Amino acid sequence: MNFIKIFAPATVANVSCGFDSMGFAVENVGDEMTFRKTSQKGIEITEISGTKGLSLDPTQNVAGVVALAMLEKHPADFGIEITMHKGFSPGSGLGSSAASASGAAYGVNQLLGAPFSNLELTKFAMLGEKAACGTAIADNVAAAVFGGFVLIRSYQPLDIVKLPVPDQLRLVAIHPQIEVKTKDARDVLPTEVSLKKAVTQWANVGGLVSGLYSNNYDLISNSLTDVIVEPARKHLIPHFDLVKSAAIKAGALGAGISGSGPTIFAICKGDVVAQKVANAIDATYSNTNIDFNVFTSKINTEGVKTLIAS
Ligand code: HSE
Repeated sequence: MNFIKIFAPATVANVSCGFDSMGFAVENVGDEMTFRKTSQKGIEITEISGTKGLSLDPTQNVAGVVALAMLEKHPADFGIEITMHKGFSPGSGLGSSAASASGAAYGVNQLLGAPFSNLELTKFAMLGEKAACGTAIADNVAAAVFGGFVLIRSYQPLDIVKLPVPDQLRLVAIHPQIEVKTKDARDVLPTEVSLKKAVTQWANVGGLVSGLYSNNYDLISNSLTDVIVEPARKHLIPHFDLVKSAAIKAGALGAGISGSGPTIFAICKGDVVAQKVANAIDATYSNTNIDFNVFTSKINTEGVKTLIAS
């Protein structure tokens, strides 16, 4: 293989109760990237479209950081030229850096002859997350690499559990056009939590995982509660409470902050409810002076994937 074009999905991390430990991939929003073997060794990023402000210098770009780390671990007698088309903005809370990082891990791995497992690709992609926000978080990148819902059961050693996706689950998301930097959204978090809140939180993670396995939409709905991170962060997102209550009133199973925000996600059962929820969220934000876009999506069960290879 000399050339590959790939799709790397957007992802929703945390999923309310699972801060840094749960995430899922989005079907119809993501980045496209190409990787071409070159005779000049090393990594070259020649084009970035769809957004502004990302560096072409591989040492300053999450995709470049990941690709360089992979070539260091697995030296090649060729170089790789990368292009990136961002399908959504950095700072949206939809795993923009994770899409670039996991896309790079997947694309480079394919050109190297696929020596690395999905777990190893996740570890490489986490280096991109560390470069982007200072912390090697796995929830977005694991969801992008594995697809579907994932549980980061352990960081040391890294242990990822791929969870089932009930057929009728749908995502509705609103992206208010403001930027919230992950680092800033992490700086507002409590460093200690009460045992009472911890009990609520881990019980809900258990409930959500169980609901995904048993197709139990009521259990999923009851478990989409976050008593630790959402209360500390929601003031960073204008009109969060209004959107959340509108989504739930319109029939969503639950709603919360997507990753570190500002995107707000709602999970729904079926397309009809998802459309009602999208309309309700749209109407709520139309009363504000902030630009936004609303979209609905199925859950992406494949993760990062090949579009063209030659
Ligand atoms: N779990 C992370 C957070 C995701 O909420 O800070 C951000 O990329």
